[in-house]
Amino acid sequence: MIGVFDSGYGGLTVFKPLAEKFPNYDLIYFGDNARAPYGDKTQEKIYQYTREAVDWLFKSGCEMIILACNTASSQALRRIQQESLPGSKYSSRRVLGVLIPVAEKVAASDADKIGILATEATVKSEAYLREIRKLTPYAEIIQQSAPKLVPLIEAGKIQNQEMKDAVAEYLGSFKARKIENIVLGCTHYPLIKHLIQDEMPKARIFDSPSVIPSALGNYLVRHQEIEQRLSKNGIRKHITTGKPKKFVKFAKVFLNIEIEAEKVTL
Ligand code: DGL
Repeated sequence: MIGVFDSGYGGLTVFKPLAEKFPNYDLIYFGDNARAPYGDKTQEKIYQYTREAVDWLFKSGCEMIILACNTASSQALRRIQQESLPGSKYSSRRVLGVLIPVAEKVAASDADKIGILATEATVKSEAYLREIRKLTPYAEIIQQSAPKLVPLIEAGKIQNQEMKDAVAEYLGSFKARKIENIVLGCTHYPLIKHLIQDEMPKARIFDSPSVIPSALGNYLVRHQEIEQRLSKNGIRKHITTGKPKKFVKFAKVFLNIEIEAEKVTL
C-alpha cells in the first residue's frame, strides 16, 4: 500500500492524479484536518504531527509514504528519513517528499526567473530555494509566503473577491520582478491555479499534481525492491482526523471525486 499524507484536503490534488496513473496500486490518503494548517506552525510541531501520521500509515501497512504536504516535505521529511526511520522496525520502508521532483522539473525547463509561492513554514525552511539552486545556480529565485490562501481554500472560498484580492497581493512581488515561472509550493494552490494564471497570463506554472505521478513512476522503475512489495488490488481509502462528512463534500465539490472517508484520532 502507498500512503499519501497531507495536513488537510489539499493533498487530494496530488492523490487524484496518482490514483488515475496507478489504478491497480492500493492507495490510502491521510488528511490531518483536525490540526491543519501546518504552514503557520513551528518546525517541531510540524515534525511531531507528520511523524504521528507516518507511524499511523506504517502501522496500517504502507510500504511507502508520499508527503504530499509541501510544509511537511520541507520541515519534517529530512528528519524522518535521517532520524526516525533508520534503526526502527520500519527501516526498510520509504518516506518521500514532493519538493525535489518539482525542483527538477523547473530546473529542466531552463527557467531563469523563478518565483516560489508557499506557506510561511515552507518559505522559512528555504528548502525549495536550496533544491532549485543546486540544479540551476544562476537562476534568479524569489520566495513569497501566502498565509491567507490555505484558510480561504479550506473554507471553500475559491472564487470570491477576497481570494482574488489575496492572489493579486501575493503575486505583486513576482510581477515587480518580472517573474516568468511560478512554483506552486503548496498542495492547495493548484485549486486556484486559474486565478494565478489569470493574474499572470504569461507565467509558466509548476505544481506537484502535474509532476509527482510520473516522478513516482520513474522511482518505482528504479526501485524494484520497493515496487514488488506494494499491494495491487486497486483499493482506495481516505482517512481524516477531522470531520468525514466535510471531507467527502470537499472532495466532491472541488475535485469532483466521490469518496468515503473514515475518521481517526491521533
Ligand atoms: N499542505 C500544506 C502544504 O502543502 C498546506 C496547508 C497547510 O498549511 O497545512 O504546504
